[in-house]
Amino acid sequence: MIEAYNLTKKYNGKVALSQVTMSISRGEFVFIVGPSGAGKSTFLKLVIREIIPTSGMLKVFGRNVGRLKRGQVSVLRRNIGMVFQEYRLLDERTVFENVAFALRVTGASKEEIKKRVPLALEMVGLKHKINSMVSGLSGGEQQRVGLARAIVNKPAMIIADEPTGNLDPDTTMELMHLLKDINGMGITVIVATHDREAVDKLQKRVVYLDNSEVVGDEARGAYLRAL
Ligand SMILES: Nc1ncnc2c1ncn2[C@@H]1O[C@H](COP(=O)(O)OP(=O)(O)O)[C@@H](O)[C@H]1O
Ligand SMILES: [Mg+2]
Repeated sequence: MIEAYNLTKKYNGKVALSQVTMSISRGEFVFIVGPSGAGKSTFLKLVIREIIPTSGMLKVFGRNVGRLKRGQVSVLRRNIGMVFQEYRLLDERTVFENVAFALRVTGASKEEIKKRVPLALEMVGLKHKINSMVSGLSGGEQQRVGLARAIVNKPAMIIADEPTGNLDPDTTMELMHLLKDINGMGITVIVATHDREAVDKLQKRVVYLDNSEVVGDEARGAYLRAL
């Protein structure tokens, strides 16, 4: 699903990701961990083609993302659900509207939207808040709306960049378990995080980045084991 060969990204000559070679298979759950500035977000941004590699190669869904044309970039992104640390929701809209928005941009019909938004909200335990304004929700609830928005298009992959960075420990574990459930439905999940406790508890694959390089990769890892 993702194959990186000597993948390198430099920003104005300064290395942010260096010679990364690894692959992520369909259906995997992978944590990308490491200190601030290690290159976690850079890797995720390369996968969604927000930035392009400086050298090396990155294939996502079998395609070389450095060489995609504009139309192919939209197809790539339609197959990837994104979750962000700061939620990126429309605060003055309802929960329904926020999730529906992700479907509308793909040209989904009204009937489809009416059917799929409640299903996505049910998956994250928020169906009862469907008509609530986002601005009135707690941080954990807002991030669950973010998750519903990410899955409503039935993507092949979910990419979450520090999704629990603004949440307390209990809410963090709830969200991580939801990501695990979503992975159980067959969706590949990649999570960049600082959260040691969550990583240790979930016992999933852990890729460790430090100073732009992959320094460890364990099938059922703990945050610090390989460092
Ligand atoms: N747009 C940018 N321009 C210049 N340098 C950047 C940019 N984005 C990230 N960097 C640098 O690249 C390195 C890796 O950053 P990043 O991938 O954001 O790390 P992480 O997500 O692990 O904290 C850091 O040294 C950071 O300062
Ligand atoms: Mg980051």
